Amino acid sequence: MPITERPDEVFVRGEGAWLWDDQGRRHLDWLQGWAVNALGHCPPVLAQALQAQATTLITPSPALHNRPSLALAARLCGLSGMHQAWFGSTGAEANEGAIKLARKWGRARRDGAFEVITFDNAFHGRTLATMAASGKPGWERLFPPQAPGFAKARWNDLDSVRALVGPQTVAVMLEPVQGEAGVRPAGPGFLRGLRALCDEQRLLLIFDEVQTGCGRLGELFAFQRHGVLPDVVTLGKGLGGGVPISALLAREPACVFEHGDQGGTYGGHPLMAAAALAVLEVVAQPAFLAGVRERGEQLAAGLRTLARRHGGGEVRGDGLLWALELGRDDGPALVQAARARGLLVNAARPHCLRFMPRLNSTAEEIDHGLALLDDTPAGGAGA
Ligand SMILES: Cc1ncc(COP(=O)(O)O)c(C=O)c1O
Repeated sequence: MPITERPDEVFVRGEGAWLWDDQGRRHLDWLQGWAVNALGHCPPVLAQALQAQATTLITPSPALHNRPSLALAARLCGLSGMHQAWFGSTGAEANEGAIKLARKWGRARRDGAFEVITFDNAFHGRTLATMAASGKPGWERLFPPQAPGFAKARWNDLDSVRALVGPQTVAVMLEPVQGEAGVRPAGPGFLRGLRALCDEQRLLLIFDEVQTGCGRLGELFAFQRHGVLPDVVTLGKGLGGGVPISALLAREPACVFEHGDQGGTYGGHPLMAAAALAVLEVVAQPAFLAGVRERGEQLAAGLRTLARRHGGGEVRGDGLLWALELGRDDGPALVQAARARGLLVNAARPHCLRFMPRLNSTAEEIDHGLALLDDTPAGGAGA
């Protein structure tokens, strides 16, 4: 089904920072599966974990325990300070679970409250409920009737959140950095203010860390970067380092799921859980996370230089998730022109480029990508 525009090339092989097309051309990949391949393409630790698990137990059934998913739940709870975990396959599925958890908590603990406050330009996934939770312009008209139970506040505007709180409000849900909106970080004061507001009004604070979690911002979780502890966290993307696994984590007061409330055939799949455990062993290391921050500073400094040289605008982001405002709407043409030069990037919005290199990028790769961008003509001419 024609769900998106794709270039004609077919991509056939990946290794580390590089992706090869069927014409044998090599591309420096700053998409990395859409911020998914935390350790780059086909990292040996991931391939070995998959191989070992695939020859041991692929799946017993979601109705039976398996070792990798038990170990992953324990590891993630230990690292995050959360108390329970549920596993799905996609970020949207984890967020859908978070919304269900909030509604259950509201029914049990808050007189049936069910409404979740989310934000303009937010992105939480493409199921009906997560599309309604998202604030992507135009989405509210796409598949009517829209799922009810969401109210939209303005980004980084605590008063706009406070104004929406009512007797039916159960939670506030947000991305610590709005990724798909063009890499728009929540201010640290905004996050602290939301925590205080949720405490004062007895609401759950839900962080969608599908894009920002698992080391992307230079801490294992974005909430650790800002010192604000949410009640519920969702993870996806980088968690599996390239394979489909997502997680819903909750702290004790919010752990209200009972038998029958949540499930899925592939939930806690041992093959995916084994992959996630292998990736976590690497990305949770303090020295690894320090490397993400260092490479991020290098990338940001380079982007600022390019912005000055080519008349671009703001450079926003953290860790290894960055955006460059172009000051014009030629993002899609630039993406094409950069690909012609051997660099894969994304225009999160027509007026900005987004960069999501592998977390173990080398200094040389960052310099090489910046040089390719420098060489990409404004307006995409010469593509
Ligand atoms: C913050 C955030 N939440 C949820 C999702 C949806 O994840 P998935 O595409 O795995 O369903 C995304 C995907 O880009 C995301 O960036």
